Order: sequence, then C-alpha cells, then structure tokens
Amino acid sequence: MKTDRQLKQLWFKFFEEHGFKKIPGYSIIPENDPTVLFTTAGMHPLVPYLLGETHPAGDKIFDVQRCIRTNDIDEVGDNSHLTLFEMLGNWTLGNCDKTEMIKLSYQFLTSKDYLAIPKERLAVTVFEGDEVAPRDEEAYKAWKDCGIEKVFFLPAKNNWWALGGGVGPCGPDTEMFYDTGKEPCCENCSPACDCGKYLEIWNDVFMQYLVKNAGDKAVKLDRPNIDTGMGLERTVAVLNGQESVYDSGCLKKVIDFIGSKAEKSYTSSESAKRSYRIITDHLRSATFILGDERGVAPSNVGQGYVLRRFIRRSVNCARNIGLDCKYFADIANVYIEEYGQDYQDIKSNGEKIKLELEKEVEKFSKAIEEGHREFEKVINGIERHKQFAKAGEVVENILSGKACFRLYDTFGFPFELTRELASERGYAVDEQGFLKAFEEHQEKSRQASAGQFKGGLADTSKQSARLHTATHLMLAGLQKMFGKDVVQKGSNITPERLRFDFNLDHKMTEEELKTLENFVNDAIAKAIDVKCEVMTLEEARKSGAHGTFSNKYGEEVKVYTIGTVSKEICGGPHAENTSELHHFKILKEESSSSGIRRIKAVID
Ligand code: ALA
Repeated sequence: MKTDRQLKQLWFKFFEEHGFKKIPGYSIIPENDPTVLFTTAGMHPLVPYLLGETHPAGDKIFDVQRCIRTNDIDEVGDNSHLTLFEMLGNWTLGNCDKTEMIKLSYQFLTSKDYLAIPKERLAVTVFEGDEVAPRDEEAYKAWKDCGIEKVFFLPAKNNWWALGGGVGPCGPDTEMFYDTGKEPCCENCSPACDCGKYLEIWNDVFMQYLVKNAGDKAVKLDRPNIDTGMGLERTVAVLNGQESVYDSGCLKKVIDFIGSKAEKSYTSSESAKRSYRIITDHLRSATFILGDERGVAPSNVGQGYVLRRFIRRSVNCARNIGLDCKYFADIANVYIEEYGQDYQDIKSNGEKIKLELEKEVEKFSKAIEEGHREFEKVINGIERHKQFAKAGEVVENILSGKACFRLYDTFGFPFELTRELASERGYAVDEQGFLKAFEEHQEKSRQASAGQFKGGLADTSKQSARLHTATHLMLAGLQKMFGKDVVQKGSNITPERLRFDFNLDHKMTEEELKTLENFVNDAIAKAIDVKCEVMTLEEARKSGAHGTFSNKYGEEVKVYTIGTVSKEICGGPHAENTSELHHFKILKEESSSSGIRRIKAVID
C-alpha cells in the first residue's frame, strides 16, 4: 500500500537525483492573475517563466501544487473526480527535449526503486498532428525505444494541452495510462474511450506554442518548455489497485468517519455513496480555501462564492444521508491534521476554518427557512389564482420551472427538496422548465467566466509589467505615509488597470490619495532603472527586501530594486525603467473587507 506522502517523497527524490531543483508550491488563490479564481495546475503560477522570465531556481524545477478545478464539479461522486487535488509537477524551462523527458518518465514509472509498474501495464498516447502542429514522431519513437508497445496516436481533443480558456503556453502532450487488464470495450478500445480499462496517471506537455489572446492562432514559442503533471490521489489509487480515490488515505478516513455518524450507510444506495463522496471532497476543498495564506470567507462573489457552494452542497448531501452538520468540524480536523503537516497556513488557520464552516452552515439553515416561507408564498399565489380564475380557465397544481429555479438559486433549495415539499401539498413541479432555467443560468456563468480569460494569464505584456512596477512604487509610498506595517494583501492586474489590496485602518482622504499619486509620479519622473537580482531568501531579507509572498526557507528568490524607493521579493515581470510608466492615476479607493482597503489605478 502506497500513501500520498510516500509518492510525494519518491517524486522529490527522483527529480532531485536528476538535477531538478525543488520549488515551493504556491497559494491556491492566484496572485496578479485576473484570469482564474483558483490555481488549476502546477504550471499556472509559473506562466511568466514558461514565457521566458528566468526562474531564480534555474531551468529544471519540480514541486507539489494544490489545485482546484471546478469545471468537473458535477462528476464529483464518481470514482476519480475531485475538486481539489495535489499535482506533482516538474518543468524544463527553455528546452524541449522530448526524448529525454520520456526516458525520465519511463524510468520513474517502471524502475523498481520508484513506481515499479510493469511496462506491459503501461499505455501511452501521443499527438496525431493537425494544421497547427505536426504528428509527434519524436515522442512516438522515444516510447517505442523504451519498449512500450501500446502507443496510440490521438487528435488535439485528447492530446493538446492548454489552460482553461485556451489562452497561454500550450502544445501537444503525451499521456501515460495504467492498463487495468480489463477486456477491451470494443475493437477500437483506446485510452480515448474512457471505458475504465485505461487510467490516466501522468502527462508530459511539450509547450512549444503560445495562444496570446482568446481566439488567436497558436504561434511557436522561441523558448519551448516541458511541463508535466501527475495527479497524486489518482496515482496512489492506481498503485494500490483501488478503483476509487476515496479508498485510501485521509479521504477514506473521512468516508469511514461519516459512516460512523450518518443514518444511511455508504453502500446503502448509489445516491448515499455520492453524498458521502461529495461531502468528503467538498469539505476538503473548503478547508484548503479557508486555510490558505490568501484564504477567503464564504460570500456571493469569486472564490467566496465557490466556497459557499462547496459548503452548502455538503449540507444538502448531509441531509440526504442523515448526517448532523455539527460533524463538519471533525471532518475539517482530519484534513487540518493531515495537510497541516505540509501546508503551514492550513495548520495555523485551523480554528478559523472550523469557525467559518460553522457560521456558513448556520447562515444556510436560515436561508433554507426563508426558502420555506418563499415556497409557501408560491403555493398561496397559485391557490389565489385558482380562486379568482376566470370561467373556463384551468389552473394546474404545478410549480413553474422559474419558481423552482428561484428557490434553488436564491434560497439554496435543491430541486429534489422542492419536489418533495410540493408533492406533500399535492403539487407537481415543472422539471423541464427548471432544467431550462438552470441551463440558461449555467450558460451565462460560462460566458462570464470565459470572459475572464480576456486579458490573459499569458499576459506578460509590457503594459501589465509596468502596472506591476506601479504597485511596487505605490506600496513604497503607502509604507512611507502609514508605516512599514502596511503590506500587500492582494493584487490583480490586467493590461488596463491595477487593483491592489492593503491593510489600513481608515478610508484614505483626498489629500492622502494625492500625496500617494505624487509619490509614484515623482519616482516615474526620476526615470529610475528597475534592477533584478537572484539571491536566497535569507540574503534577500538581510538586504532589506520586503516580502509579500510567504517564501520558504532556503528558497532562491528574485529581488526587484527600484533605486532607493523600493526593494521587494517578487516573481516579476516588471518595467525596465520607471519612466515607461509615464503617468500614474488613482481611480478609486474603497473598502475591500474589514481592515483592508483597495485601490484601483491606471497608468497612461
Ligand atoms: N499542465 C499539465 C496538466 O495540468 C501538466 O495536466
């Protein structure tokens, strides 16, 4: 039996032995990136380096990264989908030697000191080619040279990797599967058919291309890279010969714990099993979001909204299996203990995590009460309509799809609950109408989130780099005005504007805003060079550099110095000289949350 921790250790050991350097994983909430709510892949925080920025740890690096993906949220409950997973990743920057990487992948998978998978049990896929990029003969040959028999050519749908939204560094990939030995499902059975015979464990992405803006064609990168990612939980399940990711480690611990407290057992029905798994998955994600160094509380926007959905969905599932929500804190505890060993922020935020969970469960119970009142109103409305119906007019005992959707969307009523209550009162529900309203809503949010990709994560545009430099100048100004205790609490940059959060106990006055603007504009007028140096974290701290990231001991970092005005630990990229910023203007200063102020500003 392999554990998550053992697999991590093997990954670290292997890549260290092969000349790669370990870097710390990043926060689950991205910084300086307006494109997504959560870090979705290990490569995500590394985009600037994949586009040519030098990485302080060198050009061969590896890590383990906590990731959240919500696009498959409806699949959660099956054997393999999770909203949160840990990704083992490694990168070769500025060099795309496919043969070398495939050899390393083969070695890690099959060597008896590492995963010891018999090579007959491996199947791989490679890119078959299209009008953008050619058939990947090099990858094919490399696998054949390793002695792998089952090599499948597949189209872009399967073997082209890009970030959600399609913008950013991308390219053909080769994917590695474990062959369970099950009978082929059909004559053309392959890893593409998802029949369960082949389970994906790892992929090597050959990042030879870049899509700059949504809708653009992919263009070749001058400095291609390799980006690989192995899903930790899935791979452990495969290595243990288990069907599901919930069969081992702390996920199993939580399933067992729920089993000891709930009225319905895990195996009593498919619906109960799904509920057990959703609670197990969603509360783990909630623990990570609440416990993150940049953690947020439940709300109706952004990350807070996703968090709210995780918790509320868990409450509904708990109701389905007869589990008292007071046990959510115990479930969170299992995760805090397990992951607190690797993630300091989860450990130190343990109490906050449990408190916020409790608060949200309570709020949701109130919303459900209000929902009950709303439900009564709807029924009363129909009854009145019946009373005053014109002669010949038939008023049916049906709750409209719209009403059901409102109960769902505004009051958090699961559709099944509405149906149950309605039927108790002799009413039917318009399921088709509900589904239609639901789909329309989903389409709207899809469009909204696709829209978020404009501006682009791959945006290392000069304008964004300049705005990034403006935030450093601004922070220096704020510290000069209000003291060194003022620190960055969040930053979000698009090519159009910067948005910067910091701690301050009052609303800034007009005069203070003017002073800050003048401070930044003075630095711009002085045309100061922006200097970048690589050093260890300890050297950086000694040099007086200000750190906004929770960097880890021993790590190599970049320090950006702007004359005597600012010195910050930061990943970049930045302007080369402050004069590039021309003129700095603050558009707005407002409250972001308790004790946190937010400034929106532009340069022109
Ligand atoms: N970036 C690749 C993935 O997420 C490795 O699968």
